[in-house]
Amino acid sequence: NWNMKNFIDDQVALIRKQVGDKKVLLALSGGVDSSVVAALLVKAIGKQLICVHVNHGLMRKNESEGVVQMFEKDLGDNLVYVDASERFLGKLKGVDEPEEKRKIIGNEFIRVFEEEARKLEGIDFLAQGTIYPDIVESGTKTHKVVKSHHNVGGLPEDLQFELVEPLFQLFKDEVRACGVELGLPHDMVYRQPFPGPGLGVRVLGEIEPHRLEAVRESDAILREEFALAGLDQKVWQYFTIIPNFKSVGVRNNERTYEYPIIIRAVNTVDAMTATVEQIDWPILLKITDRIINEVKNVNRVCYDLSPKPGGTIEWE
Ligand code: XMP
Repeated sequence: NWNMKNFIDDQVALIRKQVGDKKVLLALSGGVDSSVVAALLVKAIGKQLICVHVNHGLMRKNESEGVVQMFEKDLGDNLVYVDASERFLGKLKGVDEPEEKRKIIGNEFIRVFEEEARKLEGIDFLAQGTIYPDIVESGTKTHKVVKSHHNVGGLPEDLQFELVEPLFQLFKDEVRACGVELGLPHDMVYRQPFPGPGLGVRVLGEIEPHRLEAVRESDAILREEFALAGLDQKVWQYFTIIPNFKSVGVRNNERTYEYPIIIRAVNTVDAMTATVEQIDWPILLKITDRIINEVKNVNRVCYDLSPKPGGTIEWE
């Protein structure tokens, strides 16, 4: 009979058989899929696993710290943390076209990972958090982007590994169940999706540090208030966006000329269509008040009412 405990036992045996006493490398983004793969591999092969976490500087507040905290006990020195923020932001300077930004972030991610992989010696296997929907051909632009970024495709010919993909038969809900069974924190396993290019596609146009900071801080406030209101359990994806234009406002009787923050909160089944969550006014007003008072360079908050199609979920 098929249940999650048996699945894990089977995969542990299969991984041990495939890998033997060799070493396995994993790009640990901190997303659900790569985290579940990491937990499964820790169980199967312990310190034969080496994880590389690349912080591209476009992560949410405290996110990279959380990834390190979650696995440092199990992995110790086998968890390689790379702070590549400066490098990514340098490459992205002056770039304002959304697809160009995505391409740069994706390519740079592969390059940083490749450099780290070269520093490590005696690695024969590359683990990936590929899940069933990833291998089903969809032909849509988003899915191709999602795939190439998540799966570290595009490594050079001379740096080829044999793949370990223990989740390839599972759907997302089964991956989550697997994570829970492996003892990962509930919050981590049930968190909302986060795009590979991160906050980079939520700072519209050129990614400028002060606007990146504003989107990161406002996102943290939004997530905190959603959790307090229980909306984190209910809404599929919720985040903030910062445009690249300013408007006039007033604070302490002085004129301001600052950026708006846009709140997006949507529900969907497959991300191909989406509807807007009808958030209660008092919650929206509280979030608005906090963002205007706590986030630098922001003087307005707007709520995006657009469904998909019409808009997409992200703004870029
Ligand atoms: P859109 O904006 O196309 O988003 O309606 C649909 C879902 O895909 C996510 N998304 C991405 N994920 N790399 C990713 O890994 C990307 O470049 C990317 N673009 C959008 C988005 O967050 C939403 O969940």
